[in-house]
Amino acid sequence: MMIIQTIQEMQQKTAQYRQQGKSIGFVPTMGYLHEGHAALLKKAREENDIVVLSVFVNPLQFGPNEDFDRYPRDMERDEKIAKASGVDLLFYPSVTEMYPRPLSVQVAVKERVDVLCGKSRPGHFDGVATVLTKLFHIVMPTRAYFGMKDAQQVAVVDGLIRDFHFPIELVPVPTVREADGLAKSSRNVYLSPEERKEAPALYAALQKAKRAIENGERNPSAICALVEDYIQTYTHGIIDYVEVYSYPDLQPLQKISGKIIIALAVRFTNARLIDNITLDVE
Ligand code: PAJ
Repeated sequence: MMIIQTIQEMQQKTAQYRQQGKSIGFVPTMGYLHEGHAALLKKAREENDIVVLSVFVNPLQFGPNEDFDRYPRDMERDEKIAKASGVDLLFYPSVTEMYPRPLSVQVAVKERVDVLCGKSRPGHFDGVATVLTKLFHIVMPTRAYFGMKDAQQVAVVDGLIRDFHFPIELVPVPTVREADGLAKSSRNVYLSPEERKEAPALYAALQKAKRAIENGERNPSAICALVEDYIQTYTHGIIDYVEVYSYPDLQPLQKISGKIIIALAVRFTNARLIDNITLDVE
């Protein structure tokens, strides 16, 4: 595994691979890797000749009062996991390498961002789309792997790839969970022991909603109310949102049908957790 810190070297390396006709699978991350990231790397390893992992905590996607400074970082551990996952190139640029001067052009996401996390984190997806535009141009991968844990991000990247004609195949990967159902996240380390015990209730609430739909419930408000009640009963978290939309368009629904997402965000003392399920409803 090669560790590369400059854009120039990264571009040279990936150009060589493309010339040799090799397919490149790309997994962009902010590091502090866990089994969720490892699942993306595993899929990329299975489907491509070369696997590129980027670790870059992107300041542009954090709001002024968010956790950029205290976002967990552990490069040594990340290197070990990357190696064990069969990564060929680990791209680990500094903030000044990625943003040497104030940006003169920035990507603004127009659709799919006035709901869910886009609403509570203004500018967040502009920051994600901008850094991904840069990373896609640097790596020029054949395929890019994203986790459904961040389903709205997958929807936004789908739009970015389509609208800007990136010749990249988007590969969504199912959410990896702890044994008790909690979605794996770098931010789970910020839960207190009591909060950690309560946190599986988020997925349990989504499962309860799924059963209600299977039993015939088709009213989006009733589904949201059920999820909210469950979370309020079993956790001390503060609900940021519980919403139901079509997926991946993220349009409001009168009646639950077709491909839909039930998504939630809940604030605990030092961590805001998100989770979702997507369902195909007749
Ligand atoms: P990060 O939060 O590090 O996540 C990197 C990738 O891992 C994302 O595609 C995310 O959806 C996926 N992932 C995280 N937890 C997962 C889980 N439990 N199961 C499956 N996949 C999971 O998302 C970002 O970084 C950034 O916004 C980024 C795309 C790198 C742009 O800066």
